[in-house]
Amino acid sequence: MAERLLTFDIFRYNPATPEIPPRMQEFQLEETVGMSLFIALNRIREEQDPSLMFDFVCRAAVCGSCGMLINGRPGLACKTLTQDLGEKITLMPLPVFKLVGDLSVDTGVWFRYLNVRTEAWIHTDQVFDPKGLEERMDNPTAHRIYEAERCIECGCCIGACATANMREDFIGAAFLNRIARFLIDPRDERPAAHIFEVVGTDEGVFGCIGLMACDDLCPMEIPLQGQLAYVRRKMALVALRGK
Ligand code: SF4
Ligand code: FES
Repeated sequence: MAERLLTFDIFRYNPATPEIPPRMQEFQLEETVGMSLFIALNRIREEQDPSLMFDFVCRAAVCGSCGMLINGRPGLACKTLTQDLGEKITLMPLPVFKLVGDLSVDTGVWFRYLNVRTEAWIHTDQVFDPKGLEERMDNPTAHRIYEAERCIECGCCIGACATANMREDFIGAAFLNRIARFLIDPRDERPAAHIFEVVGTDEGVFGCIGLMACDDLCPMEIPLQGQLAYVRRKMALVALRGK
């Protein structure tokens, strides 16, 4: 592979020093074989600017920390190879989430708040028996739950979503996916009408305007529009049957 000199145009702003206005800063780096944006950003921080802020934990598309706008599209920096990009690469923080600084955003507060708002846990009257046998579940149901559980909370679907960018109360594809997960799970004894009260509004299922960016950009390739359609179908049944 011919060696390229890459130019990174990176958003810089630290809310702790508001007197320095937001700006784009250019860095140059020689590309190496198999270079990911994770490697590039670490080299820039180590060799050129130790104040550059960005998040990484796993480096393996597992923790969801490294979501950012890569040439304007949300994606995981640890999973993105520079060889798949041009010589000029623009990096911006994910919109919607609170900016910590430069490319670092706080997705944790957002996800924690919505976990509570949508009551994203199994609701059951059964008392937990630590010595009891594991409950059996048929394979297709377990598979559908697993599919939804693959979400790594990276926030890419939220950053990509036109509705989430326009209204901060929209729960977004990640949480519609989570709602689907609990609707599928037979252990959750909540009546579907209860869930409808939480998501059957413009802040929930009816806020989506169907641009499908979430579905296109989810790094885990979760079929988000399919999950949304499932929740809408369930909600329609609740409306028809009243339960
Ligand atoms: Fe990230 Fe996909 Fe989960 Fe959205 S649904 S937070 S894009 S893994
Ligand atoms: Fe964990 Fe990228 S560093 S997903």
